[in-house]
Amino acid sequence: MDFKADIGVFGGSGFYSFLENIEEVEIDTPYGKPSDKIALATYDGKKIAFLPRHGKNHHLPPHMIPYRANISAMKQLGVKKIIAPTASGSLQPEIKPGDFVVSSQFVDRTWGRKDTFFDGPETRHISAAHPYCPNLRRLAIEAGKSLGITIHEEGTVVVIQGPRFSTVSESRWFSKMGWEVINMTQYPECYLAREMGICYANISLITDFDAGLEGRDDIPPVTEGEVLKVFSENNDKVKKMIFEIIKKIELCENDCTCCGT
Ligand code: ADE
Repeated sequence: MDFKADIGVFGGSGFYSFLENIEEVEIDTPYGKPSDKIALATYDGKKIAFLPRHGKNHHLPPHMIPYRANISAMKQLGVKKIIAPTASGSLQPEIKPGDFVVSSQFVDRTWGRKDTFFDGPETRHISAAHPYCPNLRRLAIEAGKSLGITIHEEGTVVVIQGPRFSTVSESRWFSKMGWEVINMTQYPECYLAREMGICYANISLITDFDAGLEGRDDIPPVTEGEVLKVFSENNDKVKKMIFEIIKKIELCENDCTCCGT
């Protein structure tokens, strides 16, 4: 493989292109083809690989995304760090649409997804205790703050199977547990990056209050249209923040534990 990249970026719902002067590459992996061609370009002297996780035409719903192929393709390119924005719902009143959360934990409520590279004969048990890279998270927080974005520095993201949104009862349960954010794609993407020893950070752009907030009849349950509308209103902010993170990344920096546990 001639193509190489240092930093990977996954695009989510409403985020299908990122870079200029790209070269597109089609990559095959032992886990099948990734969601789409990967766009390669240079920014700030660093080689960036961009992949829209739902495909450019959003033809892959969350439960059909080839997560293993996507992470494996990034690994083949030599990617060491992945920045992964997602559209997400808020489960807490103080986290509002338009805010960003730099996730620190996940709760997996998905089922049936291929969520490991270790199907045997090689058998490994990789720690998921701290699934997000502390260094990349710090850079994301600094980048967001420097741009004046409302950033929540920690948050647990509940990952539901989708494609349906949650019932009111499910949503109340998650928020009463104290969890902050909800989406459909952080698992197994985040964990598979960990298995491959790639640093990974999620930027959750809050698009809605999920099934509504308790005692707030004025906030209706989320719709697909609302997610896409709020995401597209904030798309530029997300891109600016990612460019700022890329500028802050030192490629030789490797004092986290992402590649060794
Ligand atoms: N993505 C954006 N908003 C969401 C929500 N409320 N639930 C699941 N995924 C989402």
